[in-house]
Amino acid sequence: MNDLSATLERCGIAASDVAGGSLRVVSPIDGAEIARLHETPVAEMPAIIAKAKAAFLEWRKVPAPVRGELVRLWGEELRAAKKDIGHVVSVEVGKIVEEGLGEVQEGVDICEYALGQSRQLFGKTIVSERPGHRIMEQYHPLGPIGVITAFNFPSAVFAWNAAIALVCGDPVVFKPSEKAPLSGLATFRALERAIKRFGDKAPAGLAQIVIGPGALGEALVTSPDIALVSATGSTRMGRAVGPQVAARFGRRILELGGNNGMIVAPSADLDMALRAILFGAVGTAGQRCTSLRRLIVHRSVKDRLIERVVAAYKTLPIGNPLSAGTLVGPLIDEAAFTMMQKALASATAQGGKVLTGGERVLADKYPKGFYVSPAVVEMPAQTDIVRHETFAPLLYVLTYDDLDAAIEVHNDVPQGLSSCIFSNDMREVELFLSTAGSDCGMANVNIGPSGAEIGGAFGGEKETGGDRESGSDSWKQYMRRTTNTINFSRELPLAQGIVFA
Ligand code: UN1
Repeated sequence: MNDLSATLERCGIAASDVAGGSLRVVSPIDGAEIARLHETPVAEMPAIIAKAKAAFLEWRKVPAPVRGELVRLWGEELRAAKKDIGHVVSVEVGKIVEEGLGEVQEGVDICEYALGQSRQLFGKTIVSERPGHRIMEQYHPLGPIGVITAFNFPSAVFAWNAAIALVCGDPVVFKPSEKAPLSGLATFRALERAIKRFGDKAPAGLAQIVIGPGALGEALVTSPDIALVSATGSTRMGRAVGPQVAARFGRRILELGGNNGMIVAPSADLDMALRAILFGAVGTAGQRCTSLRRLIVHRSVKDRLIERVVAAYKTLPIGNPLSAGTLVGPLIDEAAFTMMQKALASATAQGGKVLTGGERVLADKYPKGFYVSPAVVEMPAQTDIVRHETFAPLLYVLTYDDLDAAIEVHNDVPQGLSSCIFSNDMREVELFLSTAGSDCGMANVNIGPSGAEIGGAFGGEKETGGDRESGSDSWKQYMRRTTNTINFSRELPLAQGIVFA
């Protein structure tokens, strides 16, 4: 992997950074070791957090538009390093080249978005019930932010959080997934270069990275000095993190599991639906939290559509994600493969019929790489296994006759991240988007559930965590709001007309 060493070097990661450490990083492409990273000792966490706290006292005083300049520079660095960081992502987590690049592009996009946001951190002015009074809101920096990310978006999710946090006046401590620390480090190095170019106004400790086991994340989760913990990962992780942050009245952003569905109605453009199904269900080898997992198809179009889906699945180019033309790379590791096999066995036991895929492929060429042919399983009903998120390219097909019932089935899962409908009937579309429609954080029309733009608020309901990050007004979670009542009269009237004399 000499190619990788040169790439890492260009990303600011020296040969000594990736040798001699205790954290073994392997590429899912062939299971080969690509780095031995030095882990951050857990005992160092109090000092790291104290440094972030000290940085906060300085950074909060830098005017927000000036803070915006830092993320502008970070965006420039990410743009310049897009190919290299994208390559690291591909090697480390097995994304195809296009998706590795797309991930870095999300980072560029959020930096530009955050730059604009840096001039728009505004609150409301509110009329007072008292004469000679005015009420206004201000948003102030919140404090150090802990960012804990998952393997599947090892670059972009850090950027979503850090770009917004930095313009909001908050230092960041970043803990990348143990399965993808190199991509995190490469993204972080780009931020360090930006900080260097930005100059003295950036205090030491403004951005820090910690590499190693879950205990590092736990230190962030339990520290009262980490004002907000933004954690992306499984529902199981969220169940551990959520209560611990709540116990100290900290803020949290949880982005947990999804079990994203697509309803295909009789009027749907099936060509478009087919393309969206493929990108949604097999893109990133089914390892996005927004991946398509449930297809709920109207009986009148089911056979026609599923026939085409199965035919397309049979010709999917599965293989080395670095090779041109590959659309499906490997699963992250053997555990992911085993989970998929278990899910397939449960699905069959629960009455499912595997229409295509599910078996391991390329095992001769890559004995230590876990490639699978994406699976489509027709289910008689939404059984237990369908309600469970399996992080792999496994698509369940359900049939419906009546849209209200289809929406009910759609919503009858514990997760609530992303969803979509393919329909050209405006009544159906509006119903799906209405209060009686999809219960997810994201509901799309004639577009798949994955591949969200950064400008919208990203996140979901129920076991997905209930929080939002990235665009829209997500920035407000990275700031504290003060409500200010100002009396410019010479009287002291009380609210609610109270007389106190
Ligand atoms: C994730 O899978 O954790 O919507 C994030 C998408 C991407 C981000 C996914 N923009 O698929």
